[in-house]
Amino acid sequence: MLINKSEYLISAVNPNNYPHKELPQFLLMGRSNVGKSSFINAVCNRKQLAFTSSKPGKTATLNFYLLNDSMMFVDAPGYGYAKTAKEKRVDFGELIEKYLEDDLNLQGVFLIIDSRHLPTNDDLMVYDFLLQFDVPIYVVATKTDKLGKTIVQRNLNQIKKAFNQEINLLPFSSETKKGIEKIEEILKNTNI
Ligand code: GTP
Ligand code: MG
Repeated sequence: MLINKSEYLISAVNPNNYPHKELPQFLLMGRSNVGKSSFINAVCNRKQLAFTSSKPGKTATLNFYLLNDSMMFVDAPGYGYAKTAKEKRVDFGELIEKYLEDDLNLQGVFLIIDSRHLPTNDDLMVYDFLLQFDVPIYVVATKTDKLGKTIVQRNLNQIKKAFNQEINLLPFSSETKKGIEKIEEILKNTNI
């Protein structure tokens, strides 16, 4: 599914403020600075729809984007940023849990990781945490443009092993948009 219309709607913390709960939605998660917002921009074919940050760890809200007037992308704050205060980290867990436990039409979670590195303990923990919500999890290994083809393949194999279970692993680059067809296919198959 090609996204030809996209707009930022609202940043929210409280479920009362989530827009369009009835619409199919995808949650974007991942470490700070891994490329969540860039992923949204690439998929929506926009340069600055989602704010890409030079200050990692700043966003503490869920950012809601409406795509093609028919589905939502929800950009979560990055986790695992070393300088994030301890209270903030608790906030993050609460924020995500409230979202996932709300009565939403959630169609999937894109868990974004960096294709250059193995998943961190935080990534593995978040993945395991997500399993309980019974929603498809797509692990997107982004920034593949920064690597040669052979290295990408090697890293993908190592990443798969590190998760120690069957995962949906999708190589991706926001820079070159390599891998976007698979993402578009996932969006096309949502239950609208
Ligand atoms: P937070 O919101 O702070 O958690 O960050 P984020 O996960 O939204 O990351 P963001 O999209 O802001 O990207 C972080 C940096 O990585 C930016 O400088 C992006 O330009 C760069 N980046 C993201 N994706 C890619 C990619 O696929 N290729 C390349 N070369 N750079 C990328
Ligand atoms: Mg971001």
